[in-house]
Amino acid sequence: MDPLTTDVIDLVRNSKRGLTDADLADSLSVSKNRVHRALDELRGLGYRFDSDEQHRMSITQAPDRMIDIEIMAGLKTRTFARQLHCYQKIGSTNSAAIDLAEAGAPEGTVVVAEEQTKGRGRLGRSWHSPAGLGIWSSIILRPPVPPERATGLSLLAALAFARATEAELGLETQLKWPNDGLIAGRKVCGILIELSAEVDRVHYAVCGTGINVNHTVKVFPAALRKTASSLAIAAGRPVDRLAYYRRFLATFEGVYREYRREGMSPILGEYRKRSILLGKKVTVRQGERKVTGTAVAIDDTGALVVKTRSQEIVVRSGEATLR
Ligand code: BTN
Repeated sequence: MDPLTTDVIDLVRNSKRGLTDADLADSLSVSKNRVHRALDELRGLGYRFDSDEQHRMSITQAPDRMIDIEIMAGLKTRTFARQLHCYQKIGSTNSAAIDLAEAGAPEGTVVVAEEQTKGRGRLGRSWHSPAGLGIWSSIILRPPVPPERATGLSLLAALAFARATEAELGLETQLKWPNDGLIAGRKVCGILIELSAEVDRVHYAVCGTGINVNHTVKVFPAALRKTASSLAIAAGRPVDRLAYYRRFLATFEGVYREYRREGMSPILGEYRKRSILLGKKVTVRQGERKVTGTAVAIDDTGALVVKTRSQEIVVRSGEATLR
């Protein structure tokens, strides 16, 4: 996109009384023709403008699209998404983020897409990522921790989902260790952490978050209809995807900073309150291994502690089900 287009939308957005094409041309030291070209590009992206009698323009509609000029507008973060890569369609945002991380992209770099054609879920599953309805987003993190603490990162993203949903939409959320965000018992958010690490330290972690936002029930494949939901279904109305996404990014950055300053303990209190597993009988599958017992705690590394008949077992990752 022409940088002038970004400047034009920023100026119009931030002006209280609206701006004429001549005001814009003056402020940007370009011809009115160039301003008109930028306005045409913006209309093509879905922006709509209104003019008063003095031909001062203001924005009447911004597009519901994952484009950088919309995500950046009013984004309250210092590092998260300050490097932002937006795609209309991509295989998987996690794969793109891994490539960027390998090439040295800094912590906080974000890849987001309108649609994923090969969205990945945990444990080799696929993630349904239709166009225009959800948030399919991956962020590069470079925490100075050993790999066995990486499960904790899932918990941070899940808590960010919970806080953002409660603050932006006033909806109650539940969290299912390690990575599911639920509303009214149905999955709305999934998190996939992929790591590059040596035994002692993580080189980088890519934290992929899929949030179902404006899906209606019909959009989900039949197999997911009984277990999945979306923010819009839960709220009973369409949700402003961009506003929610900006809130999620700022909240996640806040949670991540808290974690870097003080470790997992302060965050865990909040996570535990929303946990649907704690105090319940659970089975956790880890490949061939199966642990059955009562979920009694989430420890400071983010691991689940399961009390079986004979002992307490610390489970670092896996798929938990309520019995
Ligand atoms: C799960 O619950 O199984 C995890 C789902 C993670 C989906 C997100 S969508 C953005 C990012 N890119 C992917 O390919 N997967 C994650």
